[in-house]
Amino acid sequence: MTEDNLLSHTPPAHGGDVYQEARRLGVAVEDLLDFSANLNPLGYPPGLPEALAQALPRVVHYPDRRCRELTRALAAFHGLPPPEILVGNGSTELIFLIVRALRPKKALIVAPAFSEYEQALARTQTPAAFHLADEAAGFTLSGPVEAQGADLVFLANPASPSGALLAADLLSAAVSPWLAQGVRVVLDEAFIDFAEEASLKTRLSGMPGLLILRSFTKIYAIPGIRLGYLLAAPELTARVAAHQEPWSVGTLAQAAGLACLADRNYLERSRALVALERDYLVQGLQAFSGLTVVPSAANYLLVKLTRPGWTAAHLRRVLLQQGIVIRNAGNFRGLDERFVRLAVRRREENKALLTALAHVLGEG
Ligand SMILES: Cc1ncc(COP(=O)(O)O)c(C=O)c1O
Repeated sequence: MTEDNLLSHTPPAHGGDVYQEARRLGVAVEDLLDFSANLNPLGYPPGLPEALAQALPRVVHYPDRRCRELTRALAAFHGLPPPEILVGNGSTELIFLIVRALRPKKALIVAPAFSEYEQALARTQTPAAFHLADEAAGFTLSGPVEAQGADLVFLANPASPSGALLAADLLSAAVSPWLAQGVRVVLDEAFIDFAEEASLKTRLSGMPGLLILRSFTKIYAIPGIRLGYLLAAPELTARVAAHQEPWSVGTLAQAAGLACLADRNYLERSRALVALERDYLVQGLQAFSGLTVVPSAANYLLVKLTRPGWTAAHLRRVLLQQGIVIRNAGNFRGLDERFVRLAVRRREENKALLTALAHVLGEG
């Protein structure tokens, strides 16, 4: 029996499973150049190890179940009242909790999208409809869309997996008709830290049916810690909190969150680096024939392979032979086997990707 058979009770990963790739290739995870997971290329903030070490003695106690200190820090950070904030074990936990708490009759997903919205709906047998966003609009909304009888909508800004960004005014105009009809809207802002000015957090008080999901995972490069939060009206955060398991956010995660929020300089450096490296990567990719890059405001790029005969699976395979992991985006609803997603990393790594691409595409 293979190890994966032994673990067959765990659903398959939908991307970023570098552990499996490393095992297949017989190399260490650290030896792979991972462009499949969209994390801050600077890594985690430099003060994080010390903050975790300082918090370690407290793991002999249960964590603060209500994440009081972190909630207060988030409130100050975003300029929102603490009751409008609910901390969770990654924003993924909150996606599942929202569905459990609000019990929608039907949901609409703006696709292509993060697959866990659909998973959370399936778990409660909630019917899901899909609005397939236009490629010409960068796979995000280009205006208001019919709710199709749904009482809950999921959408992301920046869009995932395209990275397309809607400015706050355009996004407000798109979601307002839903909210006016009493439809609740889950706005996933997992990557908004790279374009904070477009966040709808400042409009929350005028949009009582809006639930904004935020994550520490991407901007602080801590997917292994599991930390995210919900911004919503107090009535909604309380309803969602009522479904959360006790102590789902550990002491070390709470300490990590505080340390991350305290380092504003890291945030500035991260934004500047991602903007610079994204431009570098876009220019490099566009120089190849047969690759089209979707404009992105995030730390990843959706790329369409228009070269005859090339599929995402093939490109992924040949790059993997060079120790480079990319995301085959063909399994996102609304995309097909021509799409790949690439993370924006540091200059040397981006250069290595472009060099490998030049080799495999035969364009030296
Ligand atoms: C668009 C989007 N939302 C949410 C998440 C979940 O992030 P986390 O649960 O780590 O906060 C992801 C992770 O890949 C994502 O891509």
